Formats: sequence, structure tokens, C-alpha cells
Amino acid sequence: MNENHQSKTHVFYSPTKIIVGLNSACEVAQQVKQFGGSRALIVTDPGVVDADLIAPIASSLGSGDIAYVVYKGVEPEPPSRVIDQGAEIFKAEGCDLVLGVGGGSSMDVAKGISILSANKGKILDYCGVDQVPRKGAPMILMPTTAGTGSEVTRVLILTDEAQNTKNVVFTPYALANAAIIDPALSLSMPPTVTADTGMDAMVHAIETYVSMNATVFSDILAERAIRLIADYLPVAWAKGSNTDARYHMSLAATLAGMAFGSGGLGAVHALAYPLGTEYHMAHGRTNAIMLPHVMRYNIPGSPGRYARIAELMGKDIEGYATLEAAELAVDAILELLETIQVSCQVQDYGIPESDLPKLVAGGIKQARLFVPNPRDLDEEDVASIYRDAY
Ligand SMILES: [Fe+2]
Repeated sequence: MNENHQSKTHVFYSPTKIIVGLNSACEVAQQVKQFGGSRALIVTDPGVVDADLIAPIASSLGSGDIAYVVYKGVEPEPPSRVIDQGAEIFKAEGCDLVLGVGGGSSMDVAKGISILSANKGKILDYCGVDQVPRKGAPMILMPTTAGTGSEVTRVLILTDEAQNTKNVVFTPYALANAAIIDPALSLSMPPTVTADTGMDAMVHAIETYVSMNATVFSDILAERAIRLIADYLPVAWAKGSNTDARYHMSLAATLAGMAFGSGGLGAVHALAYPLGTEYHMAHGRTNAIMLPHVMRYNIPGSPGRYARIAELMGKDIEGYATLEAAELAVDAILELLETIQVSCQVQDYGIPESDLPKLVAGGIKQARLFVPNPRDLDEEDVASIYRDAY
């Protein structure tokens, strides 16, 4: 293992409160009261409303005599206007607490609305690191997928439509007061969404585990997440109603979110972004496509850690040299992807080979994510990874 923990000062962020349990959504009223809320703005998307996932939350709020307003204007890759509009509704309706219910997009919009409840202007005014002066209204986040980990991170990602770019707002004020993780809310996810979001969580865990910013804290979380996802993602994919598998996937996604919140991502996310922005593919799917190719490239930078990933994913590494054992981690990921029917070849998604230079240019733009990556990359390296992935 390439342990460099002792030479570093560790910083670990941990959110205030995490409530995990099947049907824990019924605790929401009690939590709203605890954080001083009497009129909540439920921030969500039309899919969550159509799947009736609001019902247990509405019933809890109703029995706790807590008023609420539903804002279901969240769009995928949320444009900044969705947050600005939600903030206006929050004020106009006299709400005092934000309740984000959904996938990463809904939770990120909820974070933005909370921020704008106490800070003037529009959300684009606060992009960057630590640009938010004041903490906003209390916020409770409830994921309905098992992947993004947004319920426990201090970042929100939004689209600037005028510039056609993705921006981040990185602030401790994006941390929820409480995350309520109820696997029952994820039961109706279709298999492809289960696969994509589950692989996003796997990438969070693996990238953090091999990151130059890894700490003992993130290691513990990432190791457990990798093992849980390897064990339970195929089951949750195969049988959506399996509450045991959904429970462990929900837990794993949150553990992975806590890990990357303090450990950082790497080249998988960097090279996946252009696939998302150019072709509007799901974030988790783009990560899944790039994962094995980036892992193979990264192995020389952290062979011991990749060998451990192989072991965590059930490979017997006894008797193998470290580098060979590390290769088994790539095999394990390829087998997992095959099981859940996710292709990791770019050409299978109808993208022409002539687009590769565009992907390379987009990947290079994310070079900030190369810094914590265990192996350095230049433009030629990025091009060769995309060629492998094609
Ligand atoms: Fe991600």
C-alpha cells in the first residue's frame, strides 16, 4: 500500500446528522420541527411526484401539522434559473425550511435555494470555493436514488445556460442539517437508473480510495462502500424490490459521498464530463464507461490500492504480484459492468470516432481533477485513454 497518511494534515468534513433506515421518511416531520421549520418547501422533480414518492413525506408532515409547498421544477443538470425560481417561490410562500427530495439534481437545487434564502442576488453570483457569506434556511435532504451522495456533500453543481458550462458552488453552507436516507424511496428505480447511479457511487469510492488526497477517514468509508456496491448492485439491479439490496446500496452511496466529500475525485470524473455535456448522457453512465479504462491507466500510480480494490470486490489475490493483483480490480469492474449490462465502449453509444478530439479537448478542461489523480496525465495520455474507451 502506498501510505502517505502520516506526512499530511487531514481535513475531514462530516455532516451534522444522518438518519438511515427502511421507511425512515416517516421521521421527516420530527426533523423539520427540530430544525425550527413550520412551513417547508419540498424541492423535487416531476418524476418523483409521478412515482408518488412524496406520499410518505406528505403524510409525516401532515401528522406533524407542518405546512408545505411542492416545487417540482427541477430539471436534470439543473440550470441556474431553476434555483433562482425556487428561491423566489420559497420567499413568496413564506417558507422557512428546504426539503430536497430526489436524485442529485433535486438535492443540489435545494442547496441553492437554501443559500439564496439568506444571500442576495442569483446563484451564479456564488460560484467557486467559499463565496457564500451566510448560511441559509435549514435544509433536509432525502435521496431517492443510491448514487450521487449529494445528501452529505458540501457542493452543488449547476448549468450556466448562457455560457453552456457546468459550475460548482462549494461551501460548508451546502451541507444539509440532516440527511434522511430511506431505501424505500429507491425501490421504484428502473434497472438502468439503478445501474448508472450505483456505478456513480462506485466511482466516488474508487476515485477517493486511490486519490492523493485520501485520508484514513475516507479510506474506511470508501473500502466499505466498494465492498457493499460489489455485493449488492447486481442484486438491486436484478430485483428492484429487494429491500435488503436497496438498503445496502443506499448506505454505500452515502458512505461513498462522505468519502469523496473529503477525499476528492479524479480522472474518471474528468474524462466522463465531456460525454455528459456533449451527448447528455446520465452522469453515472459516463463514469461507468470511463472507469475501467482510467483504472488500467492509473494502476502504476497506486498498485497496492488497486490490488486491495480487487480483494474488496471478491477477487482472491493470494500469490499474485501486486501489479497483477491490481489488474484483477479492472477485471472485477468489467465483470460487474457486464452483469448489469452497462457497456464501457464509447462507440456503443452512437458517438462517431471523429468526435474523439472534441472529447479530449473537453477532458483537458477538467484538468483540476488530474491533480489528486494517482497518475499524471497530459493531452496525449487523455487521447490514448479515450482511444481505449472507444
Ligand atoms: Fe459523480
